[in-house]
Amino acid sequence: MKIIVAGTGFVGLTHAAVCSEYGHEVYAYDIDEQRLAAYRSAQRDQIERHVNEPGLVSIIAEHLDRYLFFCNDLTPILEGADAIFLCLPTPPKPDGSSDLSYYFDAVDHICALLAKRQDTRRVVLINKSTVPIGTARKLESKLREFNVPNAGVASNPEFLPEGDAVEKSRRPDRVVVGADTEEDFRIIRRIYSQFVNHVRIRYIETTPETAEAIKYTANTLLLTYISFWNGVGARLGEAFANIRMEDLKRGVTADTRISTWGSYVSNGAGGSCFGKDIQSLIYQFRMSGHSAELLQSVYAINEYQKTYLLDRAAREAGARFNNKKVALLGLAFKQRTNDMRDASSLKVVETLLARGVGEIRAYDPAAISEAKRYFNPEHNYLFEKIVYFSSAKEALAGSDMLFISADWEEFRGLSRTIEQIVPPPYLIMDGRRMIPDYNELTERGYGYLAVGSPYMPPK
Ligand SMILES: NC(=O)c1ccc[n+]([C@@H]2O[C@H](COP(=O)([O-])OP(=O)(O)OC[C@H]3O[C@@H](n4cnc5c(N)ncnc54)[C@H](O)[C@@H]3O)[C@@H](O)[C@H]2O)c1
Repeated sequence: MKIIVAGTGFVGLTHAAVCSEYGHEVYAYDIDEQRLAAYRSAQRDQIERHVNEPGLVSIIAEHLDRYLFFCNDLTPILEGADAIFLCLPTPPKPDGSSDLSYYFDAVDHICALLAKRQDTRRVVLINKSTVPIGTARKLESKLREFNVPNAGVASNPEFLPEGDAVEKSRRPDRVVVGADTEEDFRIIRRIYSQFVNHVRIRYIETTPETAEAIKYTANTLLLTYISFWNGVGARLGEAFANIRMEDLKRGVTADTRISTWGSYVSNGAGGSCFGKDIQSLIYQFRMSGHSAELLQSVYAINEYQKTYLLDRAAREAGARFNNKKVALLGLAFKQRTNDMRDASSLKVVETLLARGVGEIRAYDPAAISEAKRYFNPEHNYLFEKIVYFSSAKEALAGSDMLFISADWEEFRGLSRTIEQIVPPPYLIMDGRRMIPDYNELTERGYGYLAVGSPYMPPK
């Protein structure tokens, strides 16, 4: 099949790469020349500056210019295309609604060109972007407005988790396709032929609106589950003495009806999707005159979690941040990615700066260059207080306290390093419960404050 993928970020690049593995002829289109040059170089450091996903670079290197092409001009490639996947950003607006300007800019451009094409073979425009319910219908009106001949629309939401995007694209839990005609379902079945009738992959065909709703329901349910553990599990461990969080988790999730995924307590879930999608669904409910109380609470709990350890540190451990040097480990929203969108670290930095912190000594295994973009001193002079290091050890050296914000494996068992580098008294704020042997640390004079446990003062 000849496939065009419009937008080559996390979703588009992964989708284009994996489709090229299955022998489709894939044209990945973007307006960002720097990205395209990086992808065309097939160099790891260049590609990972934009999208850092395990396994992605080798697929690009193998299929580049054979099955996978990168381009900034659609005109020469539209002829003969079977499908155009729309993988465009849909960020949140201040009122929570989805900003569809990038999406419709691309759609208008594509429809104008499709209207002029010579070949009138059936082409399907397929939404992979997460878009409000009813957007596929608006896409259909665009096709009519531009008089595009022989084209259909479909919704095929993407569920890939960052950090595991390639594996999950190769073996998704499900493929959801919403379309209106058998002809369009058939085209998409041919694209996903390796998933149709697969024993372990559910291939679900439905209406475009249902497909759009599945995406929002799934994402908000996942955040609800995470927030349940934060809003109830963590609170239990903090409110009552002698509750072992790991045992609580094991005991509860032993019930096969209860998921182990998400059954952890943390300083909130970030990433490009959860916060944005729940805000969008709350907005969509509000606009249709329905209440969204449950979702509003879930969103509020998740936001609260991101910085509440700093409040607890002040209240329970008497911590003062003014002029202090705070080591901040983990800037990405989670391990194995350089993505910082909606990361808890963004709020931690904002709160520390507002409390007059002297220096933030930051380290992340993958997200330092991304962090420099977010914390650009040209936008806010206070960001000059952030100093970046290339190891946890260097970030810890000379710090007065530590905040762990992301769950990179290398932070597990950090206690030895802490003991070697920083003498007590010293406060450790652990947003990810990465230090299981905290007892030894408190015995040696360190204070330990974790999500889901009461403050452990130095013994
Ligand atoms: N990131 C995820 O984990 C994830 C998972 C599932 C779904 N989604 C959804 O997928 C969509 C894309 O997300 P993403 O994380 O890949 O975004 P992204 O910001 O990483 O990438 C978007 C790309 O689109 C390009 N672009 C912008 N305007 C364009 C235009 N007019 N024409 C062509 N290209 C244009 C940008 O240059 C960028 O390369 C969003 O709706 C998101 O909610 C994301």
